[in-house]
Amino acid sequence: MAARMNTLSLLNPSHVSLRPRDSRFSHRPLRFYSSPNPNRRALFCTCSTTNGESFVLTTPLYYVNAPPHMGSAYTTIAADAVARFQRLLGKKVIFITGTDEHGEKIAAAAMAQGSTPLDHCNVISQAYKTLWKDLDISYDKFIRTTDSKHEAIVKEFYSRVLAKGDIYQADYEGLYCVNCEEYKDEKELLENNCCPVHLKPCDSRKEENYFFALSKYQKSLEEALNKNPNFVQPSFRLNEVQSWVKGGLRDFSISRASVDWGIPIPNDRSQTIYVWFDALLGYISALSDEQEQPDLLNAVSSGWPAALHLIGKDILRFHAVYWPAMLMSAGLSLPKMVFGHGFLTKDGMKMGKSLGNTLEPNELVHRFGTDAVRYFFLREVEFGSDGDYSEERFINIVNAHLANTIGNLLNRTLGLLKKNCQSTLVVDSTTAAEGNEFKDNVEKLVDKARMHYENLSLSSACEAVLEIGNVGNFYMDERAPWSLFKQGGTASEAAAKDLVIILETARIIAIALLPVTPSLSWRIYEQLGYSRDQFDAATWGDTKWGGLKGGQVMAQPKPVFARIENQTEDVDKGVAVGKTMKSKGKKMKQAQQVAGA
Ligand code: MSP
Repeated sequence: MAARMNTLSLLNPSHVSLRPRDSRFSHRPLRFYSSPNPNRRALFCTCSTTNGESFVLTTPLYYVNAPPHMGSAYTTIAADAVARFQRLLGKKVIFITGTDEHGEKIAAAAMAQGSTPLDHCNVISQAYKTLWKDLDISYDKFIRTTDSKHEAIVKEFYSRVLAKGDIYQADYEGLYCVNCEEYKDEKELLENNCCPVHLKPCDSRKEENYFFALSKYQKSLEEALNKNPNFVQPSFRLNEVQSWVKGGLRDFSISRASVDWGIPIPNDRSQTIYVWFDALLGYISALSDEQEQPDLLNAVSSGWPAALHLIGKDILRFHAVYWPAMLMSAGLSLPKMVFGHGFLTKDGMKMGKSLGNTLEPNELVHRFGTDAVRYFFLREVEFGSDGDYSEERFINIVNAHLANTIGNLLNRTLGLLKKNCQSTLVVDSTTAAEGNEFKDNVEKLVDKARMHYENLSLSSACEAVLEIGNVGNFYMDERAPWSLFKQGGTASEAAAKDLVIILETARIIAIALLPVTPSLSWRIYEQLGYSRDQFDAATWGDTKWGGLKGGQVMAQPKPVFARIENQTEDVDKGVAVGKTMKSKGKKMKQAQQVAGA
């Protein structure tokens, strides 16, 4: 699905004759752009929001040519973890996701299904919403590019850019890849003008289009990137973006004469707006209030600029080059940061519909549960780099970390508390840990986790939380409270305190891991005797030692995370996947074979 690999629909001068209708191409300085303090440790301001400023973060708007796969779910899971973390810090978060529904590719997909484009979009868009529910995605706004408020805002934006003198008509002749939804530079094509991503020949097209004067913004973009090196993350992707800009920016076509399924160009119904010029505006139109008449500046005043666009690396140029230039043209602020993560691969190949090696997120959730899926991909794949999926590793990691290190620690402690203390805490956790350096270790690890979350190092954040579980288990084994209880007297009192210490540790783990495993965290809290309201009111401040009080009664011990039984010994060797995938086994088996071929 992620089709546009590292290319732009750039104007190829050898194929183009330009007839600018408006030549007011003046270079304007960048407006409303603030440079951050480069010495700041965290990527984001971590103070709680006191001035009502929102933390707006976005996922890409997903194409609806086909239902979501695990690659598309990955960005959304990561965004959800960031959103939940920022909420814990007290920020007013607006988490935006949605679907990108216009263009030739979508119209063709609908036709292939014997459906109208809108009916098709309704079905697939709903499939995204259902998956987000199953994955515990706490989005605040879901924008569809077919929403009427979105269309109104795109048209208004277009008119602003036109009024600025940045849109002109010109003839275009070039090679178009429908799957990528972009014109290709001949140099990048394979034999027979085949697209290197989809391995299908590009169509030769000639039409008169409207163009956006991207070249005008070359200098402003260079300055913006120099002034704000945090704008592109991870930092190694900044060089790539800078070299694209330095290499020279060429104007790009923002309309299609041959595509009906799109937003008509204002005052020229013979053309529709190019999908990218349309979809990027979804980040702003999503902010527009349902009750009010859609209006660009009203939407902007509801939270723009976004604090963070989370995207895959294949669409970095659209977000770090096209989009800022479009915003500069319209006189709007730039987003504060664009983070390009890596790809999920299967047996070393990018997971995607075109290669047929996708993983079904519904299937994974159904088999292993939401927390396992969220945890595995965030823990296992370093955010920013590519990461390979292996079922064997999935099961091993999830069992070792969530079932054994965390779940089992809580369960055995609650068992001992039930047996020896009527499931009731004998003292406050602060008193229990007095003079005990174990508490200091936990606090240090919590600080570490927070720093990693702030820096979007989600895997390292998980690792730091897991380490809290490890030190907890170590403490438990070393102290062996089960033997102390048998000795009675002061030994028994010490053991009761040890249980409080471990349960307080489990409570802290629950909050610190909440951005990644919200359901598991709730189950831990429930076991510790808290109500849902108490859990929902938790903040990052609750990772501080001292939450559990003497006299608090714990729930009946029951496992918070069921171990995944490995049904086959040979999983992930390409032969056994079908056996474990019951309902869609055939499909998965086929995908595995393609990937392994
Ligand atoms: N519609 C555009 C985005 C417009 S945003 C204004 C688009 N859609 S997409 O559905 O093709 O891709 C959406 C996101 O999914 C991209 O960030 C892409 O990188 C991500 N992924 C698709 N396959 C992926 C993997 N195999 N691994 C990780 N992410 C991948 O592009």
